[in-house]
Formats: sequence, C-alpha cells, structure tokens
Amino acid sequence: MILHYFVTYRCNLRCNFCELWKLGQWKLGQLKEELTVGELEEHLPIFRELESVVFLGGEPFLKRELVSIVRAFVKKYGSGLGVCFITNGQFPDLIKKTLEEIRSFHSYLSCSVSIDGTKEIHDKIRGREGAFDKAVETLKMLGEMDIWKDLSFTISPLNYYQTYEIFELSKKLGCSFSTRLAHDLDHQTFTRNQLEIIDGQLNRIAEEKEELALEPESFIHAYYLRSIVEVYRTGKRKVPCLAGMNFLILDPYGDMYPCFNSYWCKEGYGNPEMRIGNIKENSFEEIEKRRVEVVKDRLKPWKCNRCWNECDVSSFKVIK
Ligand SMILES: C[S@@+](CC[C@H](N)C(=O)[O-])C[C@H]1O[C@@H](n2cnc3c(N)ncnc32)[C@H](O)[C@@H]1O
Ligand code: SF4
Ligand code: SF4
Repeated sequence: MILHYFVTYRCNLRCNFCELWKLGQWKLGQLKEELTVGELEEHLPIFRELESVVFLGGEPFLKRELVSIVRAFVKKYGSGLGVCFITNGQFPDLIKKTLEEIRSFHSYLSCSVSIDGTKEIHDKIRGREGAFDKAVETLKMLGEMDIWKDLSFTISPLNYYQTYEIFELSKKLGCSFSTRLAHDLDHQTFTRNQLEIIDGQLNRIAEEKEELALEPESFIHAYYLRSIVEVYRTGKRKVPCLAGMNFLILDPYGDMYPCFNSYWCKEGYGNPEMRIGNIKENSFEEIEKRRVEVVKDRLKPWKCNRCWNECDVSSFKVIK
C-alpha cells in the first residue's frame, strides 16, 4: 500500500492548474492546525502492508518539521519503508540539507521534481520567473547526492505539445518520467486536436519505454501512457482502480481519504462523504471499518472512471 501524505497545503507557488495552494492560506480562513510530530507519533495507524509514503502538499519542503516527521514514519513502519517526496524544487539548498539529514537515518529515498515545460512555459505555468532553473538545479543536486529522481510533468493546455520534449529532458537529466493530464477543472478542457497531439507524443514515449524495457514495470508504464488519451476520451478506465485499498491519502489535519478524487474534483476539496476518518479522533479499528464502508459502498473504485493516474495504475500490478 502507498500512503500519500499532504504534509501542508502551504505553497510558495501559484500554478495555474492547481487549487491546493488556496487551502494553505490563513487569510482565506482555510488553514487549520496541521498535525504535529507528536500527534503523528501517537496516532499513525499501524498499516501492516504499507510499502511507501509519498510526502507532498502544497510544498512539502516548507514544512519545518519534515525531518522529524519522516523519522516518525520510519520508526512506525520500519527501515524498509520507501520514502518519496514530490516537490516544486524551488529550494535546492534547503532540499539538499533536509535530505542529507534524513539520509543519516534512512536510505530508501526518492524525489520527484515537477517540471511543466521548457523554461518559458514552465515559468508561465508556475507563475514565477526562474522557477524552471531552480527545478533543474534541484534535479542535478539529487543526481549528485545519488538519490533516485523523477521528473513529474502535468499536461495542460499550455504545455501539451511539449510532452515528448520534456520526456527527452528527463532522459538528459537521468531521471524517470512521470506524467498525467491535469485534472479537468472547468478551465482545463483539451480540444480534439490537442488530444491527438498528446496521444501521438505519449505513444512515442511508450514505444521507447517498451524498446528499452528491462522489467515488467516499464510495460505497465507504457500501457498507462498509451491509454491516457483513450481513457480521457471514452471516460472508461481500462483496469479497475484500487483506491482505498492499494493507496490512501492523509491530509495535513489527520483526515484520511481513499483517493485524490476528494481533492481534485469540481465538488470541492475534502468531500465529507469520502472521509474515512481522522487519525487523532478515530481508532485504527474504526478507520479500517470505515475504509471498507467508503470503498465498497460509496466510492466503488473498481467501477469508478473519474481519473487515470500513474499511482493507481501501477498499484494494480501488486495484486495481479
Ligand atoms: C500537488 S503537487 C504537490 C508537490 C509540489 N508542490 C509540486 O508542485 O510538485 C504534486 C503533483 O501534482 C501535480 N498537480 C497539481 N495540480 C494538478 C492537477 N490539477 N491535475 C493533475 N496534477 C496536478 C503537480 O504538477 C505535481 O507534480
Ligand atoms: S502544483 Fe505544487 S507548486 Fe504548484 S501551486 Fe500546486 S502545490 Fe504549489
Ligand atoms: S478512478 Fe475514481 S476511485 Fe480511482 S482515484 Fe480516480 S476518482 Fe478515485
């Protein structure tokens, strides 16, 4: 199982396809008290089958206690736990220092840095001049530290035609490449022409992956890439989703959800119907009971066709 922990909604950027940073604004009255290290130590559920934790946000490296938080997870789930970060890569020095500290007690680390286009396009989407250079600097720094690194590319109407180009950049930087369509908020609909271009470029990437494939994961990833546009067009996933079973979400306040749906959908964030429970308020048994209820009765993930993401598609392999 993979846990995605949104450590904070606070963010230093205002990317044009993302709404999460708005939840981290005191002045909008959105921000509540985030989980403390002590609360995590006391209340993290004992998921026996937890393989890895992805720390994201907001910007996870803005969280001052990040090192102690990771320590609490490793203490709870053991030294075999995969620890991954997804970052906008704007603070290479801070990220380096944080990762060095974490590496002194845990070695199973990886880091994904978001890059959404060539310099001009990335800076436009991310709303900050120089953002691209910083993200690339972070990826190079990860290479020097010998930490497994990934380039994360979110496809939107502003950058769709650069998909293959950014895949090439990932190869040049020695990273793996992850990608997805920006979730369809109102202002993010792709035209038929755009979808054709995206599909062509994703198929080209998939072909390269299959040619170079050394392990089954590469074929699964190629299959995922080839299906992105088809699933978007038809609204039908090609394999059932295992949300709530193979992956779970923990938000900054301790609420748990089965999947990203509760975050990135038109109905708003933190849909109470999908809430599994709160780690401070509910016992592990209550959370497990409610998880089954939400997954089976409300979400019905194996019938849900709302999205098609890398993490849920690759989690499929675990139970095949
Ligand atoms: C929410 S961000 C959090 C981590 C960090 N702030 C960052 O930008 O990488 C995690 C990933 O989600 C992606 N993302 C943000 N909004 C999205 C959306 N509406 N649809 C799909 N992916 C999105 C980002 O591009 C990023 O790669
Ligand atoms: S995508 Fe990441 S960096 Fe951009 S606003 Fe959202 S949380 Fe912040
Ligand atoms: S397909 Fe449905 S259940 Fe699966 S992650 Fe998307 S919204 Fe959640």
